[in-house]
Amino acid sequence: MAELEKKPIKITETILRDAHQSLIATRMTTEQMLPIVEKMDQVGYHSVECWGGATFDASLRFLKEDPWERLRKLRDGFKNTKLQMLFRGQNILGYHQYADDVVEYFVQKSIANGIDIIRIFDCLNDLRNLQTAVNASRKENGHSQVALSYTLGDAYTLEYWTEMAKRIEDMGADSICIKDMAGLLVPYKATELITAMKEVTTLPIQLHTHYTSGVASMTYLKAVEAGVDVIDTAMSPFSMGTSQPATEVMVETFKGTPYDTGFDQNLLAEIADYFRPMQEEALKTGLLNPKVMGVNIKTLLYQVPGGMLSNLVSQLKEQGAEDKYYEVLNEVPRVRKDLGEPPLVTPSSQIVGTQSVFNVLMGERYKMATAETKAVLRGEYGATVKPFDPEVQKKVIGDVEPITCRPADLIPPELEKLEAEMAQWKEQDEDVLSYALFPQVAVEFFKDREAKKSKIDPKAADMENKAYPV
Ligand code: CO
Repeated sequence: MAELEKKPIKITETILRDAHQSLIATRMTTEQMLPIVEKMDQVGYHSVECWGGATFDASLRFLKEDPWERLRKLRDGFKNTKLQMLFRGQNILGYHQYADDVVEYFVQKSIANGIDIIRIFDCLNDLRNLQTAVNASRKENGHSQVALSYTLGDAYTLEYWTEMAKRIEDMGADSICIKDMAGLLVPYKATELITAMKEVTTLPIQLHTHYTSGVASMTYLKAVEAGVDVIDTAMSPFSMGTSQPATEVMVETFKGTPYDTGFDQNLLAEIADYFRPMQEEALKTGLLNPKVMGVNIKTLLYQVPGGMLSNLVSQLKEQGAEDKYYEVLNEVPRVRKDLGEPPLVTPSSQIVGTQSVFNVLMGERYKMATAETKAVLRGEYGATVKPFDPEVQKKVIGDVEPITCRPADLIPPELEKLEAEMAQWKEQDEDVLSYALFPQVAVEFFKDREAKKSKIDPKAADMENKAYPV
């Protein structure tokens, strides 16, 4: 080993974003995060993923917290560590495409409030949907990482992935991520994939996977040996299952090798000790279901992300049709094929999942199509790697001519209109972006914020008066 060149593997810690999104429905609060930030800041992480994905939605909707405020507080605390977010390309953090002016403003404000690295992905891997965000990030001196949603299927050959890597380099991104939502990348395929990609690009490559299918830590090992630059891990109390491999385990794995992270295990143990009672509490209240902590081999059979499986179960439960679970699971790959075989990641996972439920419950395929299925078949989410099924397309959208351009080219600027709609609630510039993404939820949040403010706490007021005599 001694003669081998040292190449410490870099680590992105996900416990403040993906890990709690995957295991406890994104319910970790800012108050729970802040006390441990100072210690986490000493570890030497490449970055801490702490924002984006569902954290924004859950903050406003369930926790009644301002996600922007959380970001600013984390920024204050993390003095040495880069902060990273996940961004759904032209969908930003929402479920449909936005005009370029909203995307640009969101990127600008994310970076202004403390984000260093923006991981941008598209649910169809249509790179045209990422260009605006990449350009905006460059303009703000942010690091733009383009993530390829990893999936399996006839179209997804090594040539496909290497071609994409070259195009990502050409579009001006700073790094590439392979985003394996469902844990489908098995160890020896990782060797092939990373080796092939490293041959065609000089950009750093980061690997993001989930433990769902049980192979994730072995996949990381092979990927690191093949030259991957960064891996995503989660501190042990919120690791494995539908989350990422455990940080401490990966650190130990590479100790004494050319890939040694140099992290202090004692410091990591202190951080784990902080989060463990949170895990125990979540188990007690049922927020953390022990089922999602194990290996779910169905994810390899049906190739759907863990979160999508639990969504299907709850949709069927609502309809009193839990007995149709396996029928729906078998319908998922068929719908996916009809819709051009896209990766299954937000929002395509929801679109394919919900349409599959409809197809089974209605007793006839596409008797009813959701608005989103129609939009996909009209080309409004972008281009898929394979063509749509022409018969399905005809049945769902009739004679409508699908679009083939970049969908956002047809969306006129929206920011001014949004500003006007929410003017009465505005307390900070960022509020318009919260409103743009989740209009109803944001207004509920704004109302709640106002109510809290008008409620005068006599004790606090008294203390304030004492501290600042007028
Ligand atoms: Co993830």
